[in-house]
Amino acid sequence: MASESQARRIAVSADFWDHLPFDMRGEAFRADPYPAYERLRAEGPVASPGEGVLLVTGYHAGAAVLGDPRFGLGGGALESQSFLLVDPPEHRCRRARVSGPFSARAVERLRPAVRHRTAGLVRAAAARGEADVVADLAVPLALELICTVVGVPLVDRPRWYGALSGMGLAFTPPGLLTEEDTARLAAARLEFAHYLAALIEERRRVPRDDLVSALLTPGPEHTALTEQQVITAVGQFVVAGYEPVALQMANAVYALLRHPEQLEHLRAHPSYAPAVVEEALRYDPSLHLITRIALCDADVAGRRVPAGTVVGVLPGAVGRDPEVFADPRRFDAARGPQHLALGRGEHFCLGAHLTRVQAQALVTAVARYRPVLTGESVRQRLSGVLWGVERLPVVLAGRPGTED
Ligand code: HEM
Repeated sequence: MASESQARRIAVSADFWDHLPFDMRGEAFRADPYPAYERLRAEGPVASPGEGVLLVTGYHAGAAVLGDPRFGLGGGALESQSFLLVDPPEHRCRRARVSGPFSARAVERLRPAVRHRTAGLVRAAAARGEADVVADLAVPLALELICTVVGVPLVDRPRWYGALSGMGLAFTPPGLLTEEDTARLAAARLEFAHYLAALIEERRRVPRDDLVSALLTPGPEHTALTEQQVITAVGQFVVAGYEPVALQMANAVYALLRHPEQLEHLRAHPSYAPAVVEEALRYDPSLHLITRIALCDADVAGRRVPAGTVVGVLPGAVGRDPEVFADPRRFDAARGPQHLALGRGEHFCLGAHLTRVQAQALVTAVARYRPVLTGESVRQRLSGVLWGVERLPVVLAGRPGTED
């Protein structure tokens, strides 16, 4: 086994980024990473761009890495700031402790309210005639929903919103952060932690039916979490449940706008929405890198992987693996759900169902108004490891096809 400190050194080392066959900090890659993935794929499903580093572009190889306990977090870059990105067995206990509000059953109960809120946002935008899908629809929806689920009051928004915006940088691996970013992230974390400490104090005095109160309450099989653990967990959920979701929803709408036959099919058949959302996760995922460390000597796609190797699974590349997806650059929701955009295995995205419910609501509501691009140029950009549309101005002039 690689020692934890050895693995940590490799994971956080800026060298990782220098080993990549593309410049993750560079403008060309950030403007469109897909051509670089295709060049990498020429080396096979797994490429080794430098010693101690593997990159996975093949779907089956990616699924194998994420489902294999020989590949773990191993004290990786995010562990110190994350409640859940730790290896088993600790991971299972922690996950079980927080998963209740994110279960399919709990989230399904929110579906009618999510639909209602989404329809209201889209109707208001349509009344104005024009909307930015990101700022006017996706961001408010994602933010409101995650705050509701976790128990961070929206009325407190002025107290936490500035900090939360800075915390999006938490997705950027340390080796990609500038010194200025690092300082900004640290300040944002501190500010958010101060806010959460005050909220925890309030919930200790007057518990509510929310996740913060639940985490503070000991149960028959578990002790209460410490204040620091609650801060870490809640901070992680709010950050994870906001920006990637908003970007993913905007990517889905953008894909529909560029594939009008799919948009029209969805408008006519709202039951197509789940398939559209899964296809958007394959075609244009908002998170472009999942990292693992080989905790012992292992193998993937017939290749030996020495302990300590850092493995980067590229969801944007595996979703376009031509061995698995015919004509992978075509957005076609009829092809059936298959992707690694929400991870796989032990660390499969805790917010997957929450993401699906709101994305389905949004694409359905937008499609009803026959959106068209305004003609302003649209820019998709990779920021750290998050990929999405910056602004997506649309005209929502059509009359809705069916009633809300
Ligand atoms: C489209 C939106 C989202 C994307 C693309 C996404 C992507 C992912 C991926 C790829 C993983 C696996 C990470 C790994 O294996 O290292 C993951 C895990 C996770 N996601 Fe999401 N996620 C999204 C939405 C959400 C939401 C709404 C939440 C709300 C809480 C959330 C919370 C988490 C958490 C806590 C984990 C860690 C789970 C664990 O380690 O057991 N995510 N997500």
